[in-house]
Amino acid sequence: MYPERPAGIAFGGDYSPEQWPREVQEEDMALMREAGVNLVSLGMFTWALMEPERGRYEFGWLDEVIDRLHAAGVSVDLATPTAAPPAWFVAEHPDALPVTRDGIRIGFGGRQSACSSSPAFRAATAALVRALAEHYRGHPAVVMWHVHNEYGAPLGECYCEHSVRAWQDWLRHTYLDLAALNEAWGTAFWGQRYTAWSQIDAPRFNHTAVNPAQRLDYARFSDGQHREHYILQRDIIKESHPDLPVTTNFAGTVNCKSTDLWQWARELDVVANDHYLRAEQPDNHIDLAMSADLARSVAGGKPWMLMEHSAGAVNWQPRNLAKRPGEMRRNSLAHVARGSDSVLFFQFRASRHGAEKFHSGMVPHAGTGSRQWREVLELGADLRRLDGVRGSGVAADVAIVWDWESYWALELDWRPSVDLTFRERVDAFYEALWREHVTVDFVHPSADISGYRVVVAPSAYLLTDASAKNLHRYVEAGGHLLVSYFSGIVDEHDAIHPGAYPGALRELLGLSIEEFHPLREHETVATTAAEGRIWSERIDLAGARAVQRFTAGPDAGHPAVTRHDLGAGAAWYLATAPVAGLRELLCEVLDRAGVPRPRDLPDTLELVRRGRHVFLINHGDEPVTVEGVTGTGALDGARHEGSVTVAAGGVSVILEDHP
Ligand code: GAL
Repeated sequence: MYPERPAGIAFGGDYSPEQWPREVQEEDMALMREAGVNLVSLGMFTWALMEPERGRYEFGWLDEVIDRLHAAGVSVDLATPTAAPPAWFVAEHPDALPVTRDGIRIGFGGRQSACSSSPAFRAATAALVRALAEHYRGHPAVVMWHVHNEYGAPLGECYCEHSVRAWQDWLRHTYLDLAALNEAWGTAFWGQRYTAWSQIDAPRFNHTAVNPAQRLDYARFSDGQHREHYILQRDIIKESHPDLPVTTNFAGTVNCKSTDLWQWARELDVVANDHYLRAEQPDNHIDLAMSADLARSVAGGKPWMLMEHSAGAVNWQPRNLAKRPGEMRRNSLAHVARGSDSVLFFQFRASRHGAEKFHSGMVPHAGTGSRQWREVLELGADLRRLDGVRGSGVAADVAIVWDWESYWALELDWRPSVDLTFRERVDAFYEALWREHVTVDFVHPSADISGYRVVVAPSAYLLTDASAKNLHRYVEAGGHLLVSYFSGIVDEHDAIHPGAYPGALRELLGLSIEEFHPLREHETVATTAAEGRIWSERIDLAGARAVQRFTAGPDAGHPAVTRHDLGAGAAWYLATAPVAGLRELLCEVLDRAGVPRPRDLPDTLELVRRGRHVFLINHGDEPVTVEGVTGTGALDGARHEGSVTVAAGGVSVILEDHP
């Protein structure tokens, strides 16, 4: 369910009128009109204003703001303010303050300062949200609801006494009897056998590694606690607003590790994502593209909302680089290209006070005489020309496997190498595909993947038997699967699949691994076609054939890349992290699988098809001519017969005659 209004692409952002005097708020209305702002998120951190003392609700100030916005033609995404519980609540319930894994109870003065498992916090949440939702029942300006803010960020797991109680209930409910838990967690190891549920503590800080199965379950449990807090609010809102979409903003699909967004997305009417560039990272627009593709994927391919990004610099990175001219436009349109039907910012007007006063806003401290404001006005005009994009889908031939549970498990303590990280591998594959102009979806390994020509599984460490069977069926039916090292190693309890590695995938890959040979930091090993780092291992072929062999290092002479033809498809395996050469290998797989893609384009040109529109975003310093495009420029109305030239740093969106 997508919000019915605004009708076109939503444009605007978080709005904090409570930080400003009346005359500034009035100026804001004029500026919003000028820029074409049509949606703002309101109320996010205003619990202390909505309920200045327990049970006394004050919505008058908010009524005035909402009425003013309504008169200005701006719709409201009304937020529940539970990410910022007020001082009176914390004073009454100091036990609701979260406790970190190493035992520190956080203080008041920041935000996200209540534990999702705290009964007092849940009760106070329910009372406030009920009053708020009832107060705005039927208000014409409110078009959607926005619960809380970025669950799981910054504290995914809480270790307070309420959490431990809820955890023990969760375990009882999940395992039913203690023998099953002892078996699943392998508590025979280090003599950890439990004889009562009450003995099971949270996996808090320890001077040695804590049982990984316990930690993995704690990650599942903690994520579920936040979801319960969300669902509590959603269900109350739905009682008085059954027809309005309810969402919560994800803390950056690719950046918030603690939330399993496949599970979250089922509970939302519309997926909303926040994304902030890692300012110093070269080509950080690739991370942006990945975040957007993941948002679309967890949304099941349906349009999603970019709920927050920044007009310029953020304030929380080590060095907060400003966006260069044109960069905010490229960023915004890349999100739209990849399925967002909104371009929203944190925040409308840069704050004067508080921890985020050096964070950019659509209206910067320098005011409307600034480049930033001019670019905001231009973007607003661009987005009005893209109304026709709204609602359309993005097609992908290639999918990358992304499973948060595997991500959690892979990065627990005491793995064969500290260089084994999920993001390192997934980023490498994503970047190579991005540079090949291939749009990808992300999939859970148990999902229906039959529609993709190629599926890539980067370090899919935790793989259940059911997911392994799913991949097997996919290949047999004609799919091309490319798996990278350290995949299919453990089951859902982080227990090694029996036999030689990779237990869950031996048969599918047609090989087994006798021994891992992780490399030293900065060490590389050569293969017949490339150079690898991080990893090497001893492969015994059992049906697969070697495509590349190691020519140096601990596995010299043995396979480094293999291919197993199975049924109508093929399962490829890569046993190292290529320094260069990943793209070539991917191209071989893409070509064999018949994945169409443009050739001869520079890898700084982002090309994405959304419905009948083709988005061409030039991240390079030279103009680029793209052949094979005939249609009309959606942003400038220009006709293009067979080719389009995109200016350096520019964006063209073409409505194709024959997509
Ligand atoms: C987001 C958060 C916003 C704001 C923003 C600053 O993570 O949801 O409230 O803090 O970061 O970049």
